[in-house]
Amino acid sequence: MNFKNKDIISIKDFSKEEIIHILETAKKIESRKAKPSLRGKIMGSLFFEPSTRTKLSFESAMKRLGGRVIGFDSAEASSAKKGETIHDTIKMVEIYADVIVIRHPLEGSARVAAEATEKPVINAGDGANQHPTQTLLDLYSIKKTQGRLTGLNVALVGDLKYGRTVHSLLMALSHFNCRIFFVSTESLRIPKTYLDFLASKNISYSEHENPEEIIDKVDVLYATRIQRERFPDEAEYEKVKNAYVIKSSMLSNVRKNLKIMHPLPRVNEIDMSVDKTPYAYYFKQAAMGIPVRQALLCLTLGVLK
Ligand code: CP
Repeated sequence: MNFKNKDIISIKDFSKEEIIHILETAKKIESRKAKPSLRGKIMGSLFFEPSTRTKLSFESAMKRLGGRVIGFDSAEASSAKKGETIHDTIKMVEIYADVIVIRHPLEGSARVAAEATEKPVINAGDGANQHPTQTLLDLYSIKKTQGRLTGLNVALVGDLKYGRTVHSLLMALSHFNCRIFFVSTESLRIPKTYLDFLASKNISYSEHENPEEIIDKVDVLYATRIQRERFPDEAEYEKVKNAYVIKSSMLSNVRKNLKIMHPLPRVNEIDMSVDKTPYAYYFKQAAMGIPVRQALLCLTLGVLK
């Protein structure tokens, strides 16, 4: 399998075998069976939107393997502020860097970036569309905690309309014959296009409004933040902002192997009382961003195969 110079834009671009290969590469790096070096390589880190985990874990991944990082962390800090296009920005950064990581509010922006350069481009989130590296670390976390990816019951809870992590994750789970429980308010339901996608793959799913209807049936509960910044109308956000809060009192009859995950940041979707329970996995999940992003950097730079 050869990932050298491959772009990581949408999880849909990857076969099941390719996804498994990325996860196995991450495992080899985490267990130190593989000790790759990125010495001499430079990562361009172009964040047009805020980030804590994705930005810092990519930087940490690169630097821990001996590589270096250049970039900016807001549109205001770049010449985008003066009207420069994504295309022209990438034409410049490809001169300065060996691999380009981009987060941008516009859906499809990472694809536009990838088309502007032969250097590998990694999508760190494009609007409400996709967040493939988050999905890979989510899958890595699921495999690590459940021992398998196949045949699990997975609940996706919260903002299913605007949450890009959910959109990427359900596409990836479609390879593994999981049953999916969607839990949201009517206004934040999963878009029909994703339901059609699951139906085309014969994946069984159901939609719910109350997490207590399904919490005792699932192996993974994946909670998401209500994506305030993507609402066209603040009044609509106000109506749903407290719709779902997972509390420790809901966990008395859950499966022993249940893990509660969340891409983070959390606002109020998971009560802090859950943090101390054996079901909480969200902070450990975020730590999996390091080996998974190290694997992606090594594979796309051709340092590992
Ligand atoms: N999970 C995630 O994308 O977090 P950040 O927005 O902090 O990068």
